[in-house]
Amino acid sequence: MKNIKLAEDTISKLELNKLTKWIISTKILTKSKVSKKFEHIFSNWNNSKYAVFVNSGSSANLLIAQALLESKLLINKTIILPSVSWATTVAPFMQLGFKVILCDTDKENLGLDINHLKKLIKKHKPSCICLCHVLGHSNNIKDILKLVRTNKIKLIEDTCESLGSTYNKKKLGNFGLASSYSFYYGHHISTIEGGMVCTNNKSFYNLLVSIRSHGWSRDWDKNYKKKIMKQYKLNEFENLYTFYNSGFNIRSTDLNAFIGINQMKKIDRVIKTRNKNYQLYKKLLKNFWHQNDDNQFISSFAFGTIVKNRLEVYEYLKSKKIESRPIICGSIGRQPFWIKHFGKTKLANADFIHNHGIYLPNHSNLTESEIAYICNNFLKIAKPIFFDNE
Ligand SMILES: Cc1ncc(COP(=O)(O)O)c(C=O)c1O
Repeated sequence: MKNIKLAEDTISKLELNKLTKWIISTKILTKSKVSKKFEHIFSNWNNSKYAVFVNSGSSANLLIAQALLESKLLINKTIILPSVSWATTVAPFMQLGFKVILCDTDKENLGLDINHLKKLIKKHKPSCICLCHVLGHSNNIKDILKLVRTNKIKLIEDTCESLGSTYNKKKLGNFGLASSYSFYYGHHISTIEGGMVCTNNKSFYNLLVSIRSHGWSRDWDKNYKKKIMKQYKLNEFENLYTFYNSGFNIRSTDLNAFIGINQMKKIDRVIKTRNKNYQLYKKLLKNFWHQNDDNQFISSFAFGTIVKNRLEVYEYLKSKKIESRPIICGSIGRQPFWIKHFGKTKLANADFIHNHGIYLPNHSNLTESEIAYICNNFLKIAKPIFFDNE
């Protein structure tokens, strides 16, 4: 059996050939129509009004964080973030001076634990809540929406691992003010490196495109640009180098957008296959814990489970040339970058995932016999364990 990797051929040879021909025949490789076209195709497919292409999923989160600050939509700088998430789900908010509070994880879907969230809202009165849909699984959107509506809280979604997953038939990333996506090589689709922010809010979109590029106005539509220039009493020449927001340069290039456009041609197939693979894993590993939101459509990122003897399983699988990983960051409250600032933060469910979570490969080129091979080997070594019986 060949090496079984977490990702393989996300960008095919055929796509790379197309790219090579296009680069040679093209004069401008950044900020031309190609990036706009990719954004347009992506937002249409995702059923979002606006999409903003950036150079990574981490930059997408950073961009949302800075746009929230510039938006004046927040009544304070307190945000509740998921303990089981990614380093750069949380770090941008720390870097930009938010008061960051970690919420424990739900034992079924690995999203936010509703009871803990209720307590944190009461205690900290946050302006914003951030979700992370872990490994393709949706949070408990219904209860979370109830809480954010009654408490007038802004909701944002890190959808970097859940492109194409739905909650009650609506694609994840469309439930709050803004959402982030990653197109890193190991994700559902890839632009080598890359990310996207989606929003349905036009003012927020105007902030995003400005902050993405230095804080300038060049990506605004004509009428909006005119209105702002008038407000600041600026002529066209002055406007060229006027910076309205405190920005970054986190653009991607048209080269990456060109890859993205071609990836969109196979996105539905990729998502369907990942779901099918996930169903097979669940059947073959039925005696092990798995994330549970099975009435929703899961565009699986990887198959996450929990085992008593994680290191042993990892090493055994490695000896069989099968890659595996911990369930993303485990608990952020146990990560050195967090501890350095706030000390070790205990969160019972997230700590359990930190100690026992493991994920197995799922990508759209994985065959049924490869999944059977992974599961057979996993079953030879792994010892099941469940929440609350450590
Ligand atoms: C949940 C989550 N958020 C954000 C990111 C960051 O994405 P990128 O690697 O494109 O910066 C990742 C990366 O894997 C992720 O899993």
